[in-house]
Amino acid sequence: MLSIATKFILTALFLNSCWAIDVNPRYVPHYHVYPPSGWMNDPNGFCIFEDEYHLFYQYNPYSSQEPGVAHWGHVKSPDLINWEHLPTAMTPDQPYDINGVFSGSAIVENGTMYLLYTGNVNNPINKQVQALAASQDGISVVKYPGNPVIEGADFQPNIRDPKVWKHGDLFYMVLGNSFDDNTRGRVLLYSSPDLISWTLESVLDESDGSVGHVWECPDFFELDGKYVLLFSPQGMQAIGDKYKNFFQTGYVVGNFDYENEIVYTYNRILENLDHGHDFTLLKLFLDGSGRRVFVAWFSMWESVHPERNDGWSGQITIPRELELTEGLRLLQKPVKELDAARGPKLRSGKAKAGYTLGLEAAAADIRVTAPRLQDFELLLESDDSTLSIKYDYRRGTVTLDRGGDDGVRRTKWRPEGNLIWQVLVDSSSVELFCGEGEVTFSSRLFPNGALKIRLGDSSNADDLTVYKMLRTIAAPGDN
Ligand SMILES: *[C@@H]1O[C@H](CO)[C@@H](O)[C@H](O)[C@H]1NC(C)=O
Repeated sequence: MLSIATKFILTALFLNSCWAIDVNPRYVPHYHVYPPSGWMNDPNGFCIFEDEYHLFYQYNPYSSQEPGVAHWGHVKSPDLINWEHLPTAMTPDQPYDINGVFSGSAIVENGTMYLLYTGNVNNPINKQVQALAASQDGISVVKYPGNPVIEGADFQPNIRDPKVWKHGDLFYMVLGNSFDDNTRGRVLLYSSPDLISWTLESVLDESDGSVGHVWECPDFFELDGKYVLLFSPQGMQAIGDKYKNFFQTGYVVGNFDYENEIVYTYNRILENLDHGHDFTLLKLFLDGSGRRVFVAWFSMWESVHPERNDGWSGQITIPRELELTEGLRLLQKPVKELDAARGPKLRSGKAKAGYTLGLEAAAADIRVTAPRLQDFELLLESDDSTLSIKYDYRRGTVTLDRGGDDGVRRTKWRPEGNLIWQVLVDSSSVELFCGEGEVTFSSRLFPNGALKIRLGDSSNADDLTVYKMLRTIAAPGDN
């Protein structure tokens, strides 16, 4: 057990910063990206630059209680799993971004890392413009003197979150937007020969009135011959077990043609990408080997998580690889590099109903194989919290219940063969991957005291393998 004295450690003055916030390490993750102190929201600028992965994020270095005026925080990694905190990459210091260096993306071209982001201004009226910045060394970032590169006068006040990619000789960008007096969300498509001069090509897709009033953090990409449009709509109404969070993140799948008239047709209603409580606003990139890998903000607006009082707030999901099934559903798997975080095997083999395993630290990778025609429940229990994950084989549903108000999330799922689950547990989070990744749940939980794994009554596992997970990002004060 940690003594009270070591629980409250002062973080070292962080790199070039002149501030310091006390960080209580009780809920600080072992292997998920989190801010060294202060507030984190959505991930930005995910890319590979000079053989290293770079990830930026919306950052308030001054307080863990509120988003404040957004900066860009920065981490990098050789393998998507071991992360190093870097100095703040961008601060709100220009007339066009003075009320926030909002979200955006990265593209590496001619050995330079280009960052496209939204500059937010609140006075005299709310205005969002798109701006360009560049880094030659992957650390220091210089804003383009000719900013903004898109004024978007006809699309105010919500036009943001540029995602940029290259196709042929042209760069393309999708932007989230609202229209009809901010009652409906949509995605705009732009093109550019040089990242500086941008032309509006089309409205890629828009809400019919039932899919939220603003669409944020859009992404648009080819996957297995189809085109996927991902976005986070604000303000959707819950329908049964669907759309229960304050923010949704979902996708539609369709066809797209760059050569002829630009047309996007979608053939399904918005599918939730994840079914947990704390998952939204993702960033995706195409890595050198053709993988579509994304990370999402592993928290939720309106959720007042207790870590806010600990000097830090917000974390990022484990990077996940996307695949598309023939039925046009997305599958998500943790990237294979996650093995780099895997420590000793704590147990494996059959486990009977009621089996219990105490964990030394809340950092584990749990693999379950169980018969298909049987209910199955896995519990994570601490002195003051219980989280239950339950498969109901008659109904064909998976339910995650973390207790408290609005504790339940549920969705349909039936395994094709055996029930197979992977559960990634960290100090204040759980990520569940079902089967081949056809269903995932990402939820935060805040256990105090030792955590134990227990199998529910009549929940027999053919195999229960548990690995301890290692620390892959510095603990507060280790810098
Ligand atoms: C990259 O270099 C090529 C060749 O010099 C040039 O035509 C192109 O404009 C450059 N790209 C950017 C984004 O500056």
